[in-house]
Amino acid sequence: MTTPDSSPVFDVAGGRGCDVPDYILNMAPYRAGKPIEELAREFELDPAGIVKLASNENPLGLPQSARHAVADALASLARYPDSNGYDLKAALSAHYGVAANWLTLGNGSNDLLELASLALLVPGASCVYSQYAFAVYRLATQARGARHLVVPARDYGHDLDAMATAVDDDTRLMYIANPNNPTGTFHPAARMEAFLDRVYRDSGERVTVVVDEAYNEYLDPELRFDSTQWVRRFPNLIVTRTFSKAYGLAGLRVGYALAQPRLTDLLNRVRQPFNVNSLAQAGATAALQDSDFLEQSYEVTRAGKKMLCGAFDRLGLTYLPSYGNFVLVRVGDAPAVNLALLRQGVIVRPVGGDGLPEWLRVSVGLVSENTRFIEALAHAVGR
Ligand SMILES: Cc1ncc(COP(=O)(O)O)c(C=O)c1O
Repeated sequence: MTTPDSSPVFDVAGGRGCDVPDYILNMAPYRAGKPIEELAREFELDPAGIVKLASNENPLGLPQSARHAVADALASLARYPDSNGYDLKAALSAHYGVAANWLTLGNGSNDLLELASLALLVPGASCVYSQYAFAVYRLATQARGARHLVVPARDYGHDLDAMATAVDDDTRLMYIANPNNPTGTFHPAARMEAFLDRVYRDSGERVTVVVDEAYNEYLDPELRFDSTQWVRRFPNLIVTRTFSKAYGLAGLRVGYALAQPRLTDLLNRVRQPFNVNSLAQAGATAALQDSDFLEQSYEVTRAGKKMLCGAFDRLGLTYLPSYGNFVLVRVGDAPAVNLALLRQGVIVRPVGGDGLPEWLRVSVGLVSENTRFIEALAHAVGR
């Protein structure tokens, strides 16, 4: 098979004879939220009038502090980035009170989730994660040819006891999103600590637990906790966080992992040398110090969730109380409702691929965006 310019390409269907492992051929690529420009093209809409609440992005945009830092860093783009991310790690070290050799930077926290699977999983090993968990855990497990131990959810959230019980002799890795995406469910610190304690007592360092805290900064103050205490206590733990959500830097792609030096060293061995670009490092270093922006992100999200949930109540729609910057709502015929929303220029996320065919996930937007969505939804569900 050839492309129009005659360069050879793989025929994936025919790849079965080409030593491509079945577990790769069986992978379904991650489906990201529909871009605004794509919807504008499909439905001949004005992109300026489209509201996108599909990818749990920060509706405030990026912080001014990060914008200035990125502008300053443009001058050095002819050079490779700092492979060790010295400035960002120094800022994170000061922020968390851990040494730099407890930190790994990633091209988004997605990168770190992948690196954990790359370092720890092999064909035949198993990975434990929950039904309705973040889709990347499935992909990261599949890409290594490892076995999936998918534990049925309890009330749409992680059943931690069942997950600990599911660990078998081949288990090397567990993923837990807290809060979880797409369900928005959350386990308080005491429950998480009891779980981590049990897994470490049962399996020691043989089983690594990745606690994915991409939405941590949206927790109400009384639920916040210092997960670095767990990292100090459990040598089998990796905690991942991101600058994509509350810090407003999704497009820059930067996240980080906290873990003791043994696991940090493993992640570093398998990462690309320049996995976090210079603009991302500069923007994230500035954003980390910007507590005003973080507070604003929290407030806009808290008020926005209240607004969305109030509307769902009025429309008689079931939803899951969410600890993230999004809400999962049950609309019945989700593909039809989604199409009706798209026609009105509103993009949300269908989650049928996550086993939730009657639900849509809606990211919290600005008041004007939430209002547009609520009006469009009322129209779409005929209320
Ligand atoms: C639970 C969870 N973890 C990790 C990520 C990855 O985010 P990023 O790679 O932008 O840090 C996301 C993104 O939506 C998420 O929902």
